[in-house]
Amino acid sequence: MKKVVMRQSSEEFFPRTVQRPTSLIAFWDSTVGKKIVMAVTGAIGVGYLIGHVAGNLLVFRGPAKIDAYAAFLKSNPGLLWTARAILLLAVILHIIAAFQLARMSQKSRPVAYKRWRAVGSDFASRTMRWTGPIIGIFIVYHLLHFTTGTIHPDFREGQVYHNVITGFRVWYISAFYIVTMLALLAHLYHGAWSMFQSLGLNHPKYNRLVRALATIVTVVVVIGFISIPVAVLLGWIA
Ligand code: HEM
Repeated sequence: MKKVVMRQSSEEFFPRTVQRPTSLIAFWDSTVGKKIVMAVTGAIGVGYLIGHVAGNLLVFRGPAKIDAYAAFLKSNPGLLWTARAILLLAVILHIIAAFQLARMSQKSRPVAYKRWRAVGSDFASRTMRWTGPIIGIFIVYHLLHFTTGTIHPDFREGQVYHNVITGFRVWYISAFYIVTMLALLAHLYHGAWSMFQSLGLNHPKYNRLVRALATIVTVVVVIGFISIPVAVLLGWIA
C-alpha cells in the first residue's frame, strides 16, 4: 500500500495571525541565551563599578576635585541619561534572567537531593542568591542617600564631598555600606568566573590567569569602595 505523505507548509504551522518566534525570543528563552544576557549585563555593571570607584577615590584629593568631577559628569545631560538608561536596563535584565534561570534549574531538579552538599557550584549559586538581593536593596538605598538625598541627614545638591563625608559620619550607615561591599566582593568573585564560562571564554591554558585577574579587579574595586567610609570614620578625611 502506498504511504500518504502529508506535507505541511510553514504557513500551516504558524498561521498568519500568530506571531512566529523571532530568533531574539528563542535566544532569550534558552538557558544559554539567559546566561549570556547575565554575563553581558554583569560586565556592564563591572565596567560601571570600575569607573565609579575611580571617581569616588577623588574624595582623597579634596572637595574641589571630586565636586568638579561630578559636575563634569552632569555637564552633558544627553550622555548622562543615555548611560543611566543603559545601566538601568542592564540591571533589570540581569535580575530577570537570574530569577528565570533559578526557576529553570529548580524545575529541572524535581527530586530533592537525598543528601545536600554545599560544594562547588552549589555554594557559588547559594552565595549569588543572597548577595544579589542585598546589592539590589543597597542600590535603591544608595540612590536615595547620595543621588536624590531623600534619606541623607544634610544633603547639598552638587556638593558630593560634603554629602559623602556627612553621610558616612553616621557609623551604622558606614557599617551598612561596608557589609554590602563584602557581599559585592562575593558576588563579583563568583560572577566574574561564571561570566567567562557563559561566554565560552574559559580555556584550560588561561583559566588560572583569568581567575587571578578577576580576583585582583574584584578585590581592588571593593577595597577602593570600603576605604572611603573607613577613612571618614577614622577621621582621615573630614
Ligand atoms: C563607598 C562606596 C560608594 C560611594 C562613596 C558612592 C558614592 C556615590 C555618589 C556620591 C553618588 C552620587 C553622584 C552624584 O549624583 O553626583 C553615587 C551614585 C551612584 N552610585 Fe555610588 N557610591 C559607592 C558605591 C556604589 C556601589 C557599590 C554601587 C553599585 C553596586 C553604586 C552605584 C551607584 C549608582 C547606580 C549611582 C547613580 C549614578 C547616576 O546618578 O547616574 N555605588 N554614588
